[in-house]
Amino acid sequence: MRKIIFDTDIGVDDAFALAYAAQTQHILGITTVFGNVPVSQAVKNAKVFSREIALNAPIFRGCSRPLALPALVNSTTVHGRDGLGDALENPYDDKADNAISFIIDTVKAQPGEVTLVAIGPLTNIACAINQAPEIIPLVKDVVIMGGAFGTRGHAGNVSPHSEFNIWKDPHAADQVLSSALPVVMLPLDVTHEVLISGDEIRYLNFPVLTQISSGYLQYSLTHERFEGMALHDSLTISWLTHPEYFTTVKSPIRVVTDGITRGQTLRQLTQLASRFNPFEHCSKQTLCLDVNASKVKAAFFHSLQK
Ligand code: BDR
Ligand code: CA
Repeated sequence: MRKIIFDTDIGVDDAFALAYAAQTQHILGITTVFGNVPVSQAVKNAKVFSREIALNAPIFRGCSRPLALPALVNSTTVHGRDGLGDALENPYDDKADNAISFIIDTVKAQPGEVTLVAIGPLTNIACAINQAPEIIPLVKDVVIMGGAFGTRGHAGNVSPHSEFNIWKDPHAADQVLSSALPVVMLPLDVTHEVLISGDEIRYLNFPVLTQISSGYLQYSLTHERFEGMALHDSLTISWLTHPEYFTTVKSPIRVVTDGITRGQTLRQLTQLASRFNPFEHCSKQTLCLDVNASKVKAAFFHSLQK
Protein backbone atom coordinates (compact mmCIF):
# COMPACT_ATOMS: atom_id res chain seq x y z
CA MET A 1 0.00 0.00 0.00
CA ARG A 2 1.49 3.32 -1.11
CA LYS A 3 0.95 6.78 0.36
CA ILE A 4 -0.64 8.74 -2.49
CA ILE A 5 -1.98 12.18 -3.27
CA PHE A 6 -4.80 11.66 -5.75
CA ASP A 7 -4.90 14.58 -8.23
CA THR A 8 -8.09 14.56 -10.28
CA ASP A 9 -10.52 16.50 -12.50
CA ILE A 10 -13.07 14.02 -11.28
CA GLY A 11 -15.24 12.62 -14.03
CA VAL A 12 -16.62 9.11 -14.43
CA ASP A 13 -13.40 7.13 -15.00
CA ASP A 14 -11.61 9.21 -12.32
CA ALA A 15 -14.31 8.08 -9.89
CA PHE A 16 -13.68 4.43 -10.81
CA ALA A 17 -9.97 5.06 -10.14
CA LEU A 18 -10.75 6.67 -6.79
CA ALA A 19 -12.85 3.67 -5.76
CA TYR A 20 -9.99 1.37 -6.78
CA ALA A 21 -7.40 3.51 -4.95
CA ALA A 22 -9.54 3.58 -1.81
CA GLN A 23 -9.42 -0.23 -1.73
CA THR A 24 -5.70 -0.59 -2.37
CA GLN A 25 -3.76 2.57 -1.37
CA HIS A 26 -3.33 4.97 1.54
CA ILE A 27 -4.88 8.18 0.19
CA LEU A 28 -3.35 11.17 2.01
CA GLY A 29 -5.54 13.65 0.20
CA ILE A 30 -7.51 14.38 -2.96
CA THR A 31 -6.39 17.44 -4.93
CA THR A 32 -8.75 18.73 -7.60
CA VAL A 33 -8.03 20.46 -10.89
CA PHE A 34 -10.07 21.76 -13.86
CA GLY A 35 -10.43 19.35 -16.80
CA ASN A 36 -13.47 17.17 -17.26
CA VAL A 37 -15.31 19.79 -15.18
CA PRO A 38 -14.48 23.23 -13.73
CA VAL A 39 -12.45 22.94 -10.53
CA SER A 40 -15.37 24.09 -8.34
CA GLN A 41 -17.41 21.15 -9.68
CA ALA A 42 -14.42 18.84 -9.19
CA VAL A 43 -14.35 19.78 -5.47
CA LYS A 44 -18.06 19.05 -5.16
CA ASN A 45 -17.69 15.76 -7.04
CA ALA A 46 -14.80 14.67 -4.84
CA LYS A 47 -16.92 15.37 -1.78
CA VAL A 48 -20.03 13.52 -2.95
CA PHE A 49 -18.16 10.55 -4.38
CA SER A 50 -16.04 10.23 -1.20
CA ARG A 51 -19.30 10.04 0.74
CA GLU A 52 -20.59 7.33 -1.61
CA ILE A 53 -17.53 5.14 -1.07
CA ALA A 54 -17.10 6.05 2.62
CA LEU A 55 -13.67 7.56 2.03
CA ASN A 56 -12.45 10.01 4.60
CA ALA A 57 -9.50 11.70 2.89
CA PRO A 58 -9.17 15.53 2.94
CA ILE A 59 -10.14 17.32 -0.30
CA PHE A 60 -8.31 20.34 -1.75
CA ARG A 61 -8.97 22.87 -4.48
CA GLY A 62 -6.36 23.33 -7.21
CA CYS A 63 -5.98 25.21 -10.46
CA SER A 64 -8.97 26.52 -12.39
CA ARG A 65 -7.21 27.10 -15.70
CA PRO A 66 -4.13 26.11 -17.73
CA LEU A 67 -0.71 27.67 -17.04
CA ALA A 68 -0.40 29.61 -20.28
CA LEU A 69 -3.43 29.03 -22.48
CA PRO A 70 -6.75 30.83 -22.14
CA ALA A 71 -9.32 29.08 -19.97
CA LEU A 72 -11.44 26.89 -22.22
CA VAL A 73 -15.09 26.04 -22.02
CA ASN A 74 -15.48 22.58 -20.55
CA SER A 75 -16.92 19.82 -22.65
CA THR A 76 -18.57 17.21 -20.52
CA THR A 77 -20.47 15.20 -23.12
CA VAL A 78 -19.51 11.70 -22.00
CA HIS A 79 -19.18 12.49 -18.29
CA GLY A 80 -22.54 14.29 -18.02
CA ARG A 81 -23.05 17.97 -17.12
CA ASP A 82 -21.72 17.49 -13.57
CA GLY A 83 -18.92 15.10 -14.59
CA LEU A 84 -20.44 12.17 -12.69
CA GLY A 85 -23.20 11.27 -15.13
CA ASP A 86 -25.73 13.61 -13.47
CA ALA A 87 -26.63 10.65 -11.30
CA LEU A 88 -26.07 11.84 -7.72
CA GLU A 89 -27.82 14.46 -5.63
CA ASN A 90 -24.96 16.73 -4.62
CA PRO A 91 -25.56 18.83 -1.47
CA TYR A 92 -21.93 19.95 -1.09
CA ASP A 93 -20.29 23.34 -1.64
CA ASP A 94 -17.04 24.00 -3.51
CA LYS A 95 -15.02 25.24 -0.54
CA ALA A 96 -11.67 23.58 0.09
CA ASP A 97 -8.13 24.51 1.13
CA ASN A 98 -5.34 25.09 -1.35
CA ALA A 99 -4.15 22.02 -3.24
CA ILE A 100 -0.70 23.33 -4.19
CA SER A 101 0.24 24.07 -0.55
CA PHE A 102 -1.05 20.64 0.46
CA ILE A 103 1.11 18.90 -2.15
CA ILE A 104 4.22 20.88 -1.16
CA ASP A 105 3.73 20.50 2.60
CA THR A 106 2.90 16.79 2.42
CA VAL A 107 5.89 15.92 0.25
CA LYS A 108 8.22 17.92 2.52
CA ALA A 109 6.81 16.27 5.65
CA GLN A 110 7.29 12.74 4.26
CA PRO A 111 10.34 12.90 1.98
CA GLY A 112 10.70 9.95 -0.40
CA GLU A 113 7.35 8.46 0.63
CA VAL A 114 4.65 10.23 -1.35
CA THR A 115 3.44 9.14 -4.79
CA LEU A 116 1.52 11.71 -6.82
CA VAL A 117 -1.21 10.04 -8.87
CA ALA A 118 -2.21 12.55 -11.56
CA ILE A 119 -5.27 11.75 -13.69
CA GLY A 120 -6.25 15.17 -14.99
CA PRO A 121 -4.34 18.09 -16.56
CA LEU A 122 -0.92 18.40 -14.88
CA THR A 123 -1.39 22.02 -13.81
CA ASN A 124 -1.35 21.41 -10.03
CA ILE A 125 1.84 19.36 -10.24
CA ALA A 126 3.54 21.98 -12.43
CA CYS A 127 2.52 24.76 -10.01
CA ALA A 128 3.84 22.78 -7.04
CA ILE A 129 7.29 22.27 -8.59
CA ASN A 130 7.43 25.86 -9.86
CA GLN A 131 6.55 27.22 -6.43
CA ALA A 132 8.78 24.80 -4.49
CA PRO A 133 11.37 23.17 -6.77
CA GLU A 134 13.04 21.74 -3.67
CA ILE A 135 10.27 19.10 -3.52
CA ILE A 136 11.41 17.51 -6.81
CA PRO A 137 13.95 15.12 -5.24
CA LEU A 138 11.58 14.43 -2.33
CA VAL A 139 8.69 13.02 -4.41
CA LYS A 140 8.72 9.21 -4.56
CA ASP A 141 7.22 9.17 -8.04
CA VAL A 142 4.48 10.68 -10.20
CA VAL A 143 2.11 8.23 -11.89
CA ILE A 144 0.26 9.92 -14.73
CA MET A 145 -2.66 8.94 -16.97
CA GLY A 146 -2.03 10.92 -20.10
CA GLY A 147 -0.46 11.16 -23.52
CA ALA A 148 -0.46 8.92 -26.58
CA PHE A 149 2.45 7.46 -28.53
CA GLY A 150 0.73 5.67 -31.41
CA THR A 151 1.08 2.01 -30.40
CA ARG A 152 -1.57 0.01 -32.32
CA GLY A 153 -2.95 3.32 -33.57
CA HIS A 154 -3.60 4.84 -30.13
CA ALA A 155 -2.45 8.34 -31.03
CA GLY A 156 -5.10 10.66 -29.63
CA ASN A 157 -8.65 11.08 -28.38
CA VAL A 158 -9.22 14.83 -28.39
CA SER A 159 -7.35 15.41 -31.65
CA PRO A 160 -5.64 12.95 -34.01
CA HIS A 161 -2.36 13.55 -32.14
CA SER A 162 -3.37 14.45 -28.60
CA GLU A 163 -4.80 12.93 -25.48
CA PHE A 164 -7.26 15.01 -23.40
CA ASN A 165 -5.30 15.54 -20.14
CA ILE A 166 -2.14 16.67 -21.93
CA TRP A 167 -4.02 18.73 -24.53
CA LYS A 168 -5.84 20.65 -21.79
CA ASP A 169 -2.58 22.06 -20.42
CA PRO A 170 0.37 21.15 -22.65
CA HIS A 171 2.72 23.67 -20.99
CA ALA A 172 2.18 22.12 -17.56
CA ALA A 173 2.63 18.63 -18.98
CA ASP A 174 5.87 19.60 -20.71
CA GLN A 175 7.25 21.09 -17.49
CA VAL A 176 6.39 18.04 -15.41
CA LEU A 177 7.59 15.48 -17.97
CA SER A 178 10.88 17.22 -18.71
CA SER A 179 11.65 17.86 -15.04
CA ALA A 180 13.74 15.63 -12.77
CA LEU A 181 10.59 14.21 -11.18
CA PRO A 182 10.50 10.41 -11.60
CA VAL A 183 7.45 9.91 -13.82
CA VAL A 184 5.56 6.79 -14.86
CA MET A 185 3.23 7.48 -17.76
CA LEU A 186 0.12 5.45 -18.64
CA PRO A 187 -0.89 6.76 -22.09
CA LEU A 188 -3.76 5.80 -24.40
CA ASP A 189 -1.46 3.09 -25.79
CA VAL A 190 -2.33 1.06 -22.69
CA THR A 191 -5.54 2.64 -21.38
CA HIS A 192 -7.41 2.12 -24.68
CA GLU A 193 -6.49 -1.56 -24.48
CA VAL A 194 -8.40 -2.09 -21.23
CA LEU A 195 -12.12 -1.86 -21.93
CA ILE A 196 -14.84 -2.73 -19.47
CA SER A 197 -18.39 -3.50 -20.61
CA GLY A 198 -21.69 -2.40 -19.09
CA ASP A 199 -22.33 -5.97 -17.97
CA GLU A 200 -18.95 -6.14 -16.24
CA ILE A 201 -19.67 -2.86 -14.41
CA ARG A 202 -23.08 -4.11 -13.26
CA TYR A 203 -21.49 -7.38 -12.17
CA LEU A 204 -19.16 -5.44 -9.83
CA ASN A 205 -21.95 -5.09 -7.28
CA PHE A 206 -20.82 -1.51 -6.66
CA PRO A 207 -24.08 0.34 -7.41
CA VAL A 208 -22.66 3.85 -7.47
CA LEU A 209 -20.32 2.90 -10.34
CA THR A 210 -23.29 1.61 -12.32
CA GLN A 211 -25.23 4.81 -11.55
CA ILE A 212 -22.54 7.28 -12.60
CA SER A 213 -21.53 5.38 -15.74
CA SER A 214 -24.94 4.79 -17.29
CA GLY A 215 -24.84 7.98 -19.44
CA TYR A 216 -21.27 7.17 -20.51
CA LEU A 217 -22.33 3.65 -21.51
CA GLN A 218 -25.33 4.95 -23.44
CA TYR A 219 -23.04 7.35 -25.30
CA SER A 220 -20.62 4.57 -26.20
CA LEU A 221 -23.45 2.32 -27.35
CA THR A 222 -24.80 5.06 -29.62
CA HIS A 223 -21.46 6.26 -30.98
CA GLU A 224 -19.24 3.19 -30.86
CA ARG A 225 -21.75 0.32 -30.89
CA PHE A 226 -20.12 -1.01 -27.74
CA GLU A 227 -21.68 -0.54 -24.32
CA GLY A 228 -18.54 0.05 -22.33
CA MET A 229 -15.66 2.35 -21.49
CA ALA A 230 -11.91 2.42 -21.28
CA LEU A 231 -10.70 2.16 -17.70
CA HIS A 232 -8.21 5.01 -18.38
CA ASP A 233 -7.47 6.59 -14.97
CA SER A 234 -7.72 3.30 -13.05
CA LEU A 235 -4.58 2.12 -14.82
CA THR A 236 -2.51 4.40 -12.57
CA ILE A 237 -3.70 2.29 -9.66
CA SER A 238 -3.10 -0.91 -11.65
CA TRP A 239 0.49 0.23 -12.07
CA LEU A 240 0.86 0.74 -8.30
CA THR A 241 -0.57 -2.69 -7.51
CA HIS A 242 0.77 -4.72 -10.45
CA PRO A 243 3.60 -3.04 -12.39
CA GLU A 244 4.51 -6.46 -13.79
CA TYR A 245 1.40 -6.34 -16.02
CA PHE A 246 2.96 -3.54 -18.08
CA THR A 247 5.72 -3.38 -20.69
CA THR A 248 7.76 -0.20 -20.34
CA VAL A 249 10.47 1.74 -22.10
CA LYS A 250 12.67 4.49 -20.69
CA SER A 251 12.81 7.73 -22.60
CA PRO A 252 12.80 11.47 -22.17
CA ILE A 253 9.33 12.82 -23.05
CA ARG A 254 8.34 16.24 -24.35
CA VAL A 255 5.02 17.85 -25.27
CA VAL A 256 4.12 20.00 -28.27
CA THR A 257 2.64 23.16 -26.75
CA ASP A 258 1.05 24.81 -29.79
CA GLY A 259 0.18 24.45 -33.46
CA ILE A 260 -1.81 21.70 -35.14
CA THR A 261 -0.26 18.97 -32.99
CA ARG A 262 -0.82 20.81 -29.68
CA GLY A 263 -0.72 18.30 -26.83
CA GLN A 264 1.16 15.62 -28.75
CA THR A 265 3.53 13.65 -26.55
CA LEU A 266 6.91 12.74 -28.03
CA ARG A 267 9.59 10.33 -26.94
CA GLN A 268 13.13 10.25 -28.22
CA LEU A 269 13.24 7.69 -31.04
CA THR A 270 16.77 8.23 -32.36
CA GLN A 271 20.12 8.86 -30.75
CA LEU A 272 21.42 10.98 -33.65
CA ALA A 273 23.73 13.73 -32.54
CA SER A 274 21.97 16.85 -33.68
CA ARG A 275 22.50 20.53 -33.17
CA PHE A 276 18.97 20.87 -31.87
CA ASN A 277 17.91 18.19 -29.43
CA PRO A 278 14.73 19.09 -27.50
CA PHE A 279 15.28 16.06 -25.24
CA GLU A 280 18.68 17.25 -24.03
CA HIS A 281 18.76 17.67 -20.22
CA CYS A 282 15.40 15.87 -19.83
CA SER A 283 15.18 12.95 -17.43
CA LYS A 284 14.36 9.51 -18.79
CA GLN A 285 10.85 8.67 -17.72
CA THR A 286 9.09 5.32 -17.51
CA LEU A 287 6.61 4.95 -20.34
CA CYS A 288 4.08 2.08 -20.46
CA LEU A 289 3.48 0.97 -24.03
CA ASP A 290 1.88 -2.44 -23.60
CA VAL A 291 -0.36 -4.08 -21.05
CA ASN A 292 -1.77 -7.45 -20.12
CA ALA A 293 -5.38 -6.23 -20.29
CA SER A 294 -7.04 -9.38 -18.96
CA LYS A 295 -4.81 -9.45 -15.87
CA VAL A 296 -5.37 -5.73 -15.21
CA LYS A 297 -9.13 -6.25 -15.45
CA ALA A 298 -9.06 -9.32 -13.21
CA ALA A 299 -7.16 -7.45 -10.49
CA PHE A 300 -9.54 -4.47 -10.80
CA PHE A 301 -12.62 -6.71 -10.49
CA HIS A 302 -11.09 -8.54 -7.55
CA SER A 303 -10.50 -5.30 -5.61
CA LEU A 304 -13.94 -3.84 -6.32
CA GLN A 305 -15.94 -6.99 -5.68
CA LYS A 306 -17.37 -5.89 -2.33
C1 BDR B 1 -8.56 11.14 -19.80
O1 BDR B 1 -9.44 12.18 -20.20
C2 BDR B 1 -10.44 12.33 -19.24
O2 BDR B 1 -11.68 12.64 -19.82
C3 BDR B 1 -10.47 11.03 -18.47
O3 BDR B 1 -10.93 11.24 -17.15
C4 BDR B 1 -9.04 10.58 -18.50
O4 BDR B 1 -8.30 11.13 -17.43
C5 BDR B 1 -8.48 10.13 -20.93
O5 BDR B 1 -7.96 10.73 -22.08
CA1 CA C 1 -9.36 12.21 -15.52
